[in-house]
Amino acid sequence: MITVALDAKKHNRNSFDCGVEALNNYLKLIANQQSNKDNSRTYVLEDKEDDTSIVGFYTLTMANIDLNSFPSKLQKKYQYNNTVALIARLAVDKKYMKNSIGSWLLVDALKKLLNASDTVGFPLVIVDSKDGVSSFYEKYGFKKFEDTSNKLFISISDIRACLK
Ligand SMILES: CC(C)(COP(=O)(O)OP(=O)(O)OC[C@H]1O[C@@H](n2cnc3c(N)ncnc32)[C@H](O)[C@@H]1OP(=O)(O)O)[C@@H](O)C(=O)NCCC(=O)NCCS
Repeated sequence: MITVALDAKKHNRNSFDCGVEALNNYLKLIANQQSNKDNSRTYVLEDKEDDTSIVGFYTLTMANIDLNSFPSKLQKKYQYNNTVALIARLAVDKKYMKNSIGSWLLVDALKKLLNASDTVGFPLVIVDSKDGVSSFYEKYGFKKFEDTSNKLFISISDIRACLK
């Protein structure tokens, strides 16, 4: 399996349905615009039988974290660099859920970010998870911020230790 950059001319964004309207609409209306502006990148996993059909997608960008909302024992460690990578969106079409595709997409996203960090250097990856989904990320080593139960982070060094 391999993810490819979202191609608005090729991929059928209208038929994608992950059950969360905000994510469906993001893919349909916003993802390509944001990529054209170099604000983010969206990658899709195509259906094996029909490469215009989207099985799942994720969007990557950068963000700044408020160090005050970070676990206090880690605030000092990251005081000189609060710029982090953000998995801004991640979703699987309802037809393909519960087949480990979400997990595969998450690992694929982390591999891309680990490679990017070799070039530009940033210490953390964060995700702002939907209500009730944080346990999905915790399975892969993400830890919760202190201020909100929906925001999670993982360090590049932990990703490197797992993936290399
Ligand atoms: C969350 C989502 C990406 C998971 O995709 P998936 O392909 O169904 O997940 P997987 O089959 O890889 O599941 C991996 C593990 O995560 C768990 N998991 C799956 N969906 C979950 C959810 N919504 N909340 C918590 N845990 C979840 C599974 O039970 C599984 O655990 P197990 O290994 O102990 O059996 C998918 O349900 C989805 O797109 N949901 C709608 C959009 C969304 O909420 N995206 C997250 C935005 S932050």
